[in-house]
Amino acid sequence: MRKNIVAGNWKMNNDLRKTQALIKALDEKIKTSKTEVMIAPVFVNLQSAVKQLKDSYIEVIAQNMHFADSGAYTGEVGAKMLKSVGVKTVILGHSERRAYFNETDELLIKKVDAALKNNMRVIFCFGEELKDRKSGNHQNVVESQIKNVLFHLPASSFENIVLAYEPVWAIGTGETASPEQAQDMHKFVRETLSNKYKASLAKNMSIIYGGSVKPDNAKEIFSKPDVDGGLIGGASLNADDFFAIVNAF
Ligand code: PGA
Repeated sequence: MRKNIVAGNWKMNNDLRKTQALIKALDEKIKTSKTEVMIAPVFVNLQSAVKQLKDSYIEVIAQNMHFADSGAYTGEVGAKMLKSVGVKTVILGHSERRAYFNETDELLIKKVDAALKNNMRVIFCFGEELKDRKSGNHQNVVESQIKNVLFHLPASSFENIVLAYEPVWAIGTGETASPEQAQDMHKFVRETLSNKYKASLAKNMSIIYGGSVKPDNAKEIFSKPDVDGGLIGGASLNADDFFAIVNAF
């Protein structure tokens, strides 16, 4: 079902003490909301975050996972392990994973399949680079990222997928896509889904935007008809800013 979602991607920030302090501040502010609210701390702090938020409205999610449930993959964490500490949603395909950890579409297919097989919800990230935007190729790039990784799935799988459009040139740069650029791409993504599956599936998808969303631009971006929320990096590390973004709907 289509919902408004605001998810904080903390990336590699906040040790245990800072994680607990930020969660305390968020929990005091965000009591209930029509918007789904999620935060993604680093792996080692997930268990403590889940415990701290056990009676809360805020969901704790993971930033990444391996495609195998277990095995000889030093340094990795699988879906069953995440679920065993109470994490039910995972971000996959973030552009930083693609750029710095060589995550390809082939790898992401395995990760998405593994997450869904384990009944986890996936926030699937995609987005073009600046060169693609400049050459006018941005829609083709996004279309192929979505097709390559998701179009082998049956329609029913999309109930457990949230799409996150994150133009790489807008991530952590302070440069946001304009609300119109976000709207155009979200609409295009919905059309792409509608062509492959059904219009009703496309209509029911939550498609969120990420890339330098701040309290002062969130309202305008979220007001666009095909934008169902945001994946927030930098601004999610500040309780007041994140709270303001959650309330931007
Ligand atoms: P940003 O990051 O809000 O700091 O641009 C967004 C993201 O990477 O998900």
